[in-house]
Amino acid sequence: MAVERTLSIIKPDAVAKNVIGEIYSRFEKAGLRIVAARMLHLSREQAEGFYAVHRERPFFNDLVAFMTSGPVMVQALEGEDAIAKHREVMGATNPKEAAPGTIRADFASTIDENAVHGSDGPDTAKTEIAFFFREEEICPRTR
Ligand code: TYD
Repeated sequence: MAVERTLSIIKPDAVAKNVIGEIYSRFEKAGLRIVAARMLHLSREQAEGFYAVHRERPFFNDLVAFMTSGPVMVQALEGEDAIAKHREVMGATNPKEAAPGTIRADFASTIDENAVHGSDGPDTAKTEIAFFFREEEICPRTR
């Protein structure tokens, strides 16, 4: 299995619930390593840009309003098979369908306020990490 990187966002609902540490702990237990991290409050332009693929979807405006409603914690995660592993610990998009013990099952209430984001493939992971971090801001393990 190859070592990959993926982008994670702890969304405003989970930051408001004060569960950043709990979520980081799930990443660590899954063997995912934080190699870059930043807290920020997304501007409307940033949220629209990040979710540009969903521009035509009916939920787009609500999604942008939600993602700009409070601070988010953004991190690049590294590990073997990191993209799929991260999606597994996140759980299904709709928390009502998320497997027990997943982040969304435990910390999210609805499909539109679902606690976390994770890249869905190698190409999006690359683009999404570059959206938030310059290459020199990423700190891979050295020991
Ligand atoms: P999507 O890429 O389908 O899911 P995921 O985040 O699991 O990759 O959707 C992106 C986000 O859009 C999702 O996390 C929450 C929001 N969304 C809604 O608000 N309503 C919806 O019906 C869907 C499908 C998504």
